[in-house]
Amino acid sequence: MLDAAKKLLVPSKRSDVPPFIVMDVMAAAAQRESQGARVIHMEVGQPAAPAPATAIKAAQAALARGRIGYTETLGIPSLRARVARHYQENYDLALDPGRVVVTTGSSGGFILAFLSLFEPGDRVALANPGYPPYRHILSALGCEPVLIETSEETRWAMSSKALIATHQRTPLKGVVVASPANPTGTMMDPDALARLIAVAEAEGIRVISDEIYHGLDYALAAETAANVSDHAVVINSFSKYFCMTGWRVGWMVVPESLVRTIERLQGNLAISVPTLAQVAAEAAFDGRDEMEAVKHGYEESRRILTEGLPKAGLDKFLPVDGAFYLYADISKFSDDSLDFAKRMLNEASVAATPGIDFDPVDGRHFLRFCYAGSAAEMHEAVERIGLWLKR
Ligand SMILES: Cc1ncc(COP(=O)(O)O)c(C=O)c1O
Repeated sequence: MLDAAKKLLVPSKRSDVPPFIVMDVMAAAAQRESQGARVIHMEVGQPAAPAPATAIKAAQAALARGRIGYTETLGIPSLRARVARHYQENYDLALDPGRVVVTTGSSGGFILAFLSLFEPGDRVALANPGYPPYRHILSALGCEPVLIETSEETRWAMSSKALIATHQRTPLKGVVVASPANPTGTMMDPDALARLIAVAEAEGIRVISDEIYHGLDYALAAETAANVSDHAVVINSFSKYFCMTGWRVGWMVVPESLVRTIERLQGNLAISVPTLAQVAAEAAFDGRDEMEAVKHGYEESRRILTEGLPKAGLDKFLPVDGAFYLYADISKFSDDSLDFAKRMLNEASVAATPGIDFDPVDGRHFLRFCYAGSAAEMHEAVERIGLWLKR
């Protein structure tokens, strides 16, 4: 091939982001199922339940009306108002709907937040372990993700002390916090969150708070960063508590000064968020009873795992505070979580995600279990893992 033609095939360096290893686990699980195995899926972080009936009915009615056009770039006004009301109802916060931006899942929110807050080369702190797309989106945008290690001492959350120590070595421009967090399922207590935000903002570090797992808190009540600071950027989604992963709709609460910037960005990048998903999302707020019932199911699954896994042999895991994740230490069995996950899938037909997806430093010692499945599945998973580890 001519050199000139070869050049036409080369993708940009910044697009060279790693894949999600969990997708490889899903593919391997699907292959085992095609061979007749009955796999218990604990690898993917999504609810097993459908969207609330109120959401589905609203979407069906919108479809029946026929025309699905663009919406306002910042989102359907009644949905933005409904999101603002959610803050009043859940956090006792009077929020101006004008600060709410509807996004394509929280994933779309990260792109808008990072683009509107950071320049290429800016350093942005992330807790390690953490949700991989934070670092991959930042890298693709030319920013530098800076991993801050967490430990038992800080309840596996980023401490304000560690943030400032990192900033003093080389200045940071931003920090992403998440509580409840993925993959750990741990939460920051509201005081620690407020301290971190105060310390960061005093140094001019922009705070982005990923609140996608709010609503799924069992150990303590989650506090929104919007209640702590008007300068924080809050990102949330209908994917988890509202059981609407595939609808691809979320929202942000942004400082007033950023609204027009984000409107211009989203207008150019996407025009607007899918209309049908927005209509369904607004109606999802009326499906609270259904969502609370699903949450009680997670609480039961959490109980089964926290009681059952130690008996099965996995007796070390992080505090199981929220979301639907249990992050288990497998170091007494293996120091290669990818190999351990593969063997557990092939020999016990239980799929979980290796920690290396979330933690390049110590993830080889951990597995993430998602407990969004049924109680019967959780019982069976515990039994299968116990038999497998004791063979
Ligand atoms: C911590 C965290 N943030 C964001 C997302 C992205 O979710 P979505 O784009 O569906 O809102 C996920 C998905 O698993 C997640 O775990």
